[in-house]
Amino acid sequence: MIVTAQQHFTRQQQTQFPEAQGVFSWLLSAITLATKMIQAKVRQAGLLDVLGSAGDTNVQGEAQQKLDVYANQALLHCLGLRDSVAMLVSEENEEPVVFDRAPETGKYVVVFDPLDGSSNIDVNVSVGTIFSIYRRPDSQHDLQRVCLQAGSKQVAAGYVVYGSSTIMVYTTGSGVYGFTLDPAIGAYVLSHDNLRMPKQGMYYSVNEGQAHTFPDEYRRYLDRLRSGVLGHSYSTRYVGSLVADFHRTMLKGGVFLYPPTRQYQKGKLRLMYEANPLAFIAEQAGGMATDGYRRILDIEPENIHQRTPLILGSQMEVEAFGK
Ligand code: AHG
Ligand code: MN
Ligand code: MN
Repeated sequence: MIVTAQQHFTRQQQTQFPEAQGVFSWLLSAITLATKMIQAKVRQAGLLDVLGSAGDTNVQGEAQQKLDVYANQALLHCLGLRDSVAMLVSEENEEPVVFDRAPETGKYVVVFDPLDGSSNIDVNVSVGTIFSIYRRPDSQHDLQRVCLQAGSKQVAAGYVVYGSSTIMVYTTGSGVYGFTLDPAIGAYVLSHDNLRMPKQGMYYSVNEGQAHTFPDEYRRYLDRLRSGVLGHSYSTRYVGSLVADFHRTMLKGGVFLYPPTRQYQKGKLRLMYEANPLAFIAEQAGGMATDGYRRILDIEPENIHQRTPLILGSQMEVEAFGK
């Protein structure tokens, strides 16, 4: 008996958001549709003119890859067609995209990294999409306040890994569920029911090439992991696509870190559309996520593209930081 993502969204909504009358699951279906369009392009990347740079830079000052632009357009298009969307925030758009919708119709804000791991597209290494959904606060009509909510206010979060298979993992706050895209029927089918992250793992995941520029507390932490202070030695795995490194951590446990570096004094990863959604998923699966001092989900954002240090993974390894 197969359970599709659409069936699962509907079931989750009926139990958790009965007042949403199908609007919430309809919103999630816009995201899955966009990811199916993206994965189709990812799978043909070498054959289509979607490889390489788009010749432009995004608000991050990073060279946009053609697939970044395509993925962003797919999400903006599919989500823009849903009346329940009040606002969209994308890594690839400097400002939020605001829709003129009545507060009782435009109930949700969707925040996303349309294509994560862009540097890996041209070398056929897994890339992904990350999304996060907030309710539009009733009181505030101040646009900035509407999209700058702490991660603890998320109503849903998820990611898709375009890897050896295409897997979508999401949470609405009552557990984590994974779906594998079945190309034969074009549907995401439940494959990881109630995913739990191991309490400890065998891997740590960090860009060792930058380790000489990490703050001392990070270097001491990595030395302790290597020396077996947590009961065993560790292997290192680092794909360079956050979604792929995190998905492995979800299944195998361990810890992913992106510390402050000389180039990125506040860390490279973005709070709103990388750290927050994955922190929500990690905690729902029994894991943890901090910025070295605070729970990621407690951080009050100041701007939509702000960066944060990130320590994300199993409880044992994340708790051991700073000890
Ligand atoms: P994006 O492609 O959305 O800009 O994200 C890239 C991020 C993340 O996917 C990954 O963990 C990190 O960049 C890798 O950075 P380094 O190459 O500096 O290690
Ligand atoms: Mn990213
Ligand atoms: Mn990206």
